[in-house]
Amino acid sequence: MQIEVTENKIENISSDVALVFLFQKNNTFAPSEELERIDKALKGNLLSTLTLEHFKGKEESSVTIFTHGKVLAPRIMVVGLGEKKDFTPALLRKIIAAITKKLHKSTNSISVGEISEESSGLTHEELVHMISEGFLLGNYKFNVYQKKDPEEKELEVVIFANINKTNAKNIKKYIEESHRIFQAVKLTRDLVNEQSAIATPAYLAKVAEDIASSSDLIEVTVYDKKGCEKMGMGAFLGIARASTDVPPRFIHLQYTPKGYKGDKNVAIVGKGITFDTGGISIKPEKYMADMKMDMAGAAAILGVFSVIAHIKPNVPVMGLIAATPNLISSTSLLPGDVVKAMNGKTIEILNTDAEGRVTLADSMSYAVKNGATEIVDLATLTGSCMVALGLDYAALYSNNDELKERLLTAAKMSGEKVWEMPLVKEYKKLNKSAVADIANLESIRWGGSITAALFIEEFVDEKPWVHFDIAGPAYSESEFELGPKGGTGFGVGMLISYLSMV
Ligand code: BES
Ligand code: ZN
Ligand code: ZN
Repeated sequence: MQIEVTENKIENISSDVALVFLFQKNNTFAPSEELERIDKALKGNLLSTLTLEHFKGKEESSVTIFTHGKVLAPRIMVVGLGEKKDFTPALLRKIIAAITKKLHKSTNSISVGEISEESSGLTHEELVHMISEGFLLGNYKFNVYQKKDPEEKELEVVIFANINKTNAKNIKKYIEESHRIFQAVKLTRDLVNEQSAIATPAYLAKVAEDIASSSDLIEVTVYDKKGCEKMGMGAFLGIARASTDVPPRFIHLQYTPKGYKGDKNVAIVGKGITFDTGGISIKPEKYMADMKMDMAGAAAILGVFSVIAHIKPNVPVMGLIAATPNLISSTSLLPGDVVKAMNGKTIEILNTDAEGRVTLADSMSYAVKNGATEIVDLATLTGSCMVALGLDYAALYSNNDELKERLLTAAKMSGEKVWEMPLVKEYKKLNKSAVADIANLESIRWGGSITAALFIEEFVDEKPWVHFDIAGPAYSESEFELGPKGGTGFGVGMLISYLSMV
């Protein structure tokens, strides 16, 4: 999709649909100069239609008017933005994405009318980012396996109207930034939506290799089973043991800024279970259906690395993924088995469905061993987290207030919903094992997202660390505000904002 700017006023742009935005004020819509110009061109038809339709500028309400050749666009859609006091960047993005989902099959081109900084309280940068992202995200489809309807149109062009020459350069820059974030989100969504028979560990490794070969600032090391054995990754390999035909890969992407002399190394880590059957502790059918999504954390890391050479963080960044499916076979781990992680700690497997934390034990150990100075992980880790916070919110856990604040700021900037949860020290005893240093299953069910986070903490060696349990927001079980059913790309925007600030 192309996003362009023009000096032309909206009534002089020939697009399939022209969007005109209005705020609500005192229980009716606030007039605008643009509205009055178009109404004049339509000989009063616009205002009278809005009155007939009882349009008040309410958030997400809209009225469509056919223009019969009186202005260049055959259709004008008047869109309500709600009251100014309730207006936020995230709301604007949501409104635009909703319009896009409504129009994209019947529309090639859309022109976008004015929302001023004064009327909205948002900066040009926020306005352009949110409108562009709304179009790009709302237009996202994963249709690799579906026949295309020949009648269906593609939304190809979006044009910002009435942009003067002085502003155009900046606005084009913001548009480019939005394209970049979308490119990362799209890769993440595509990887999550792809069937697990295709999106195997080797496939994720190939994606990482392609990313590395696209920039001389990025290197990649991919370890196969033997390589992981050599490093002592007994925990990760335990989970991978059943998967003889779909071998595991440990992926280390490394970004290094040109001429970097310091000793920082930020680690971003993603859970990379390419399918979670639960293993011997097999999942019921209902809970297994969407488990191709259990690599959404890993997919977000790959998404971010696909644009990292453009973000250009000031410090080195390693992206780590332990990729394997969690399968069932005669070689599966069995409850009661004990595995040893790379840092020497032993783990008793009490439930093979709590596999994510076991693979992360080795990812964290690897990060520490390779000099990580701070670690952020994204993992579709527990159903308990979804019970606690629902589908929209990710849980945040941290052992370091300074790092935590930076990630909360980043999440605010990207408009992603995260909620801090406590690392309750008293619950540590729930992870005790009778035979090993730690068990992979808590002794009581309650607080399962917390005990999972406490388990991971055992492997970060007290390095500043933030853990996101993204089981809820990583995947949408039905169509949602910013896209279709499937992978959402959660975490990508937040990590990009975080890395832009390090
Ligand atoms: N991948 C799942 C968690 C999950 C559930 C993610 C639903 C997304 C949606 C994880 O590996 C798992 O199975 N966790 C178990 C842990 C339990 C056995 C301690 C869970 O949450 O039930
Ligand atoms: Zn599981
Ligand atoms: Zn899992």
